[in-house]
Amino acid sequence: MCCRPGVLSRSSFSIGPGAHVSSPASLLAVSDLHVSYADNRDVVDGIRPGSPGDWLIVAGDVGELFADIRRTLAQLRERFAAVIWAPGNHELWTHRDDPVRSRGVERYEQLVEMCRSIDVLTPEDPFPVWTGPGGPVVVAPLFQLYDYSFRAPGTHTKEESLAYAYRTGIVCTDEMMLHPDPYPDRESWCWARVEETERRLDAIDPALPTVLVSHWPLVRHPTDVLRYPEFAQWCGTERTADWHRRYRAVAAVYGHLHIPRSTRQDDVRFEEVSLGYPREWQRRPTPPRVPRHILAPVLDGAA
Ligand SMILES: [Fe+2]
Ligand SMILES: [Fe+2]
Repeated sequence: MCCRPGVLSRSSFSIGPGAHVSSPASLLAVSDLHVSYADNRDVVDGIRPGSPGDWLIVAGDVGELFADIRRTLAQLRERFAAVIWAPGNHELWTHRDDPVRSRGVERYEQLVEMCRSIDVLTPEDPFPVWTGPGGPVVVAPLFQLYDYSFRAPGTHTKEESLAYAYRTGIVCTDEMMLHPDPYPDRESWCWARVEETERRLDAIDPALPTVLVSHWPLVRHPTDVLRYPEFAQWCGTERTADWHRRYRAVAAVYGHLHIPRSTRQDDVRFEEVSLGYPREWQRRPTPPRVPRHILAPVLDGAA
């Protein structure tokens, strides 16, 4: 594995994509690989760079088991010049089949350490600067979780919103497996993450635009198309609603919804880059389009 090159500023560094290659590199993104499914592992086997300088963003939900997450990210890191990971809810589960029994913050910190051991960048590392086509752009992986503020229709408190979900039976498994330890609840962990993440984002050179990367969408509009609107409460927080404008985003990359598509808000591209479960992508008329181009030689500004 290569070493990390010099620091450009206190909050970012450059890996220099394409420094030793002739074809221009691309910044690519995927999420929700869910590698516990054999069919999804086959898809991962096919994820290859188009150029040796390509970077790959992996926006959470690689899998549930530590060994699966490590193996998959290490495979991808062998192929791509850089891999940038942000956690999803599935990585944060304490799954009954995982010999790693840590919960909450401890589990997240262990995931970060694991990523560092295989040279995969995390939200805790200096933000890299993409200097290929469309750059320079700071690529900022984020971990902000959710706080139930994307409430179910007609509800006004977390309690009402959760009660609505339990009534309809659409309850995210996080309620059973994503533990907030040592925080009293997931929203407290979310709010601490939002505060810490804003501190990191505030420190980015204001002359540089960003690509913001998070498992959960930073704004609510992508959840408008959810089949079950009560699921939105596990999809984000209103506290990040202005981050795409405040931090000069050229694109906001996310997953979690398993509804791959491109949308716009305030002239910023929002890119849902998920693979999703086989039962979801196999019933679509075309094969999954993974990874997606975020910044690329001929696709600058396009989805
Ligand atoms: Fe997912
Ligand atoms: Fe997810």
